[in-house]
Amino acid sequence: MPNKLPSSTKAQTGRKSPAKPAANFAKAMVQWQRQHGRKDLPWQLENNPYNTPYNTWLSEIMLQQTQVKTVIPYYQRFVAQYPNVNALAKASVDEVLHLWTGLGYYSRARNLHKCAQIISRQYKGKFPQTLEQLEALPGIGRSTAGAILSLSMGISAPILDGNVKRVFCRFHAIDGWSGESKTQKQLWQLAQNCVQALPPKQAGTFNQAMMDLGSGICKRSKPLCQLCPLAPACVAYQNNSQKLYPKSKPKKGIPEKEVFMLLLQKADGSVFLEQRPPQGIWGGLWSLPEFSSAQSLKKYCKTIKGASNPEKLENIKHTFSHFKLHIHPMHCHIQHEPAKISQRQNLWYAIRNKKQPAVGLASPVKKLIEQVSKQ
Ligand code: ADE
Repeated sequence: MPNKLPSSTKAQTGRKSPAKPAANFAKAMVQWQRQHGRKDLPWQLENNPYNTPYNTWLSEIMLQQTQVKTVIPYYQRFVAQYPNVNALAKASVDEVLHLWTGLGYYSRARNLHKCAQIISRQYKGKFPQTLEQLEALPGIGRSTAGAILSLSMGISAPILDGNVKRVFCRFHAIDGWSGESKTQKQLWQLAQNCVQALPPKQAGTFNQAMMDLGSGICKRSKPLCQLCPLAPACVAYQNNSQKLYPKSKPKKGIPEKEVFMLLLQKADGSVFLEQRPPQGIWGGLWSLPEFSSAQSLKKYCKTIKGASNPEKLENIKHTFSHFKLHIHPMHCHIQHEPAKISQRQNLWYAIRNKKQPAVGLASPVKKLIEQVSKQ
């Protein structure tokens, strides 16, 4: 266990000097990789100490959203059929798709083929050696470009796949969701600080360590923290909060609606209710007439002879599974029963009459009726 492992501090986010803690973190990972990391994956066996760019590129594309054990037989068939980028460029896209069948995400195979043709023609079969050039090729993003440079060319570049993100998010207890740009930037900075703190030729070992630790130790569920070289300084481990990281995509807030409800009350205390349609919220229950604004409610009350000015009652918040309803109740007293006021089934609910037949009331309506019956 490395004794110089940094405690996670804000320093690693780039606000203070990141050099020391990042160097200790990176060295601990390189040391761990040498002892425990994977070194016998088929694409790691071609060209010691580095993999070839072709083998690295092919394996990285296949490994996107796909597990190592699924990829291995596909990878082996692929390199047997196309041992180098020129051979792949000469194949027809149909032949490539045929070999890819079952691996899924077929745009990867189409881009792989396009990319092979560009490398074969424009770069004479030699992979370019800068992030910018690699990222300009079809199907190669920033992380894949970083993997190709670091794993196959000994060039310093960070990577950031799901496993790597999980390790950083737990180690630093990063509260943001990695899909949002601020957190993404923070994670790339952490990865960059680590590779920068190492000799360029060790960047590949560090990156492979992060992928291997992420998939084998710092697993999504039941992480094996007892075996982790980072545990002594890992914030999530120290707080036993591994389950909280990485933060998942924030759920979209449920929509909110407003409604103005009219509590129309006669002099004998009875309250006007109408029956809700069978479908929808409070289906078949009895509720109060609804308006979309205070203005339209008041306008309606003005049409009733002798009606009082509607008075506000306390607002009610009612949460359904799919939306939140803000109810603004308004209370209006009338002297006489108006002419027909609703198309729906309706009744005058005698709140003071114990013999009032039981009807199913929508729950906020029940609350409101209890409230006014006490007045
Ligand atoms: N997933 C993506 N790249 C990988 C690699 N080089 N080794 C293991 N798993 C990976």
